[in-house]
Amino acid sequence: MKTQGTVALITGAARRVGCAIALELARAGCDIAIHYWQSQDEATRTCERIEEIGKRCITIQADLADSSTWESIIAKTTQAFGHLDILVNNASVFLTTTPDTIEAFDTPRWEHMLRVNLLSAAALAHHATPLLTANGSGKIVNLCDIAVQRPWSNHLSYCISKGALETLTRGLAKALAPTVQVNGVAPGIAEFPAEFSSETRTRLVDMVPLKRTGTSQEVAKLVRYLVEHGDYITGQIIPIDGGLSLR
Ligand SMILES: NC(=O)c1ccc[n+]([C@@H]2O[C@H](COP(=O)([O-])OP(=O)(O)OC[C@H]3O[C@@H](n4cnc5c(N)ncnc54)[C@H](OP(=O)(O)O)[C@@H]3O)[C@@H](O)[C@H]2O)c1
Repeated sequence: MKTQGTVALITGAARRVGCAIALELARAGCDIAIHYWQSQDEATRTCERIEEIGKRCITIQADLADSSTWESIIAKTTQAFGHLDILVNNASVFLTTTPDTIEAFDTPRWEHMLRVNLLSAAALAHHATPLLTANGSGKIVNLCDIAVQRPWSNHLSYCISKGALETLTRGLAKALAPTVQVNGVAPGIAEFPAEFSSETRTRLVDMVPLKRTGTSQEVAKLVRYLVEHGDYITGQIIPIDGGLSLR
């Protein structure tokens, strides 16, 4: 896809991996809609950095657990830019201080997890489809996780949400072919949650064959590759994990 002059919407793009994806797609020539939830200051800063690259940028605040926001996120993007070519479903809940085990099963928490990590991605794809197909080519990239291959019992609802997101990715790839290519990027460790102790970080890095974490920039470059050069790739989940999934 020729990315110059296209428009990309990235959810959860104020900081961390989403911010890196927004900046990388701006460098590829896209105008950017940054969706964020609570990180308003970071969203504003990321927007300024995108404008310094020379691309247009808007920020859209929305709680993805609230289904009434889904259609309006797409509407706000098209009101600002007139079209939409690339959707990156990056926003995600990952519980680090609340237990996410079967013993701690809690219906509202599971529903919240599935709304943010799965249902919002499906709904945004649904509302974006007429726009993504309008110019004859569009791209969706979903941020998945290699953990679905060997689900962590202490991040159970998260792994289930990401497993279903993989299935959604493949289903959408078939449903939206041949006009829209839909793929997933599955990081291993790109950026640790701030709450992880140094002991946990050391233990996890030791499990990675390449003996380091990845970076948000590396994930962003893979997303850019799929958008720019992935015209004949669809329905694939590409791990970027330093070999962690080989264990
Ligand atoms: N980091 C990793 O090593 C890693 C590993 C495997 C997979 N992944 C996947 O890669 C993606 C990016 O990772 P990350 O670590 O950068 O993600 P993250 O920091 O955990 O979350 C990204 C953003 O999601 C947004 N978000 C959370 N709840 C929301 C809600 N209710 N409504 C709207 N937005 C909400 C937050 O936005 P605000 O800050 O604006 O509130 C947050 O900044 C995620 O899909 C993640 O599952 C990451």
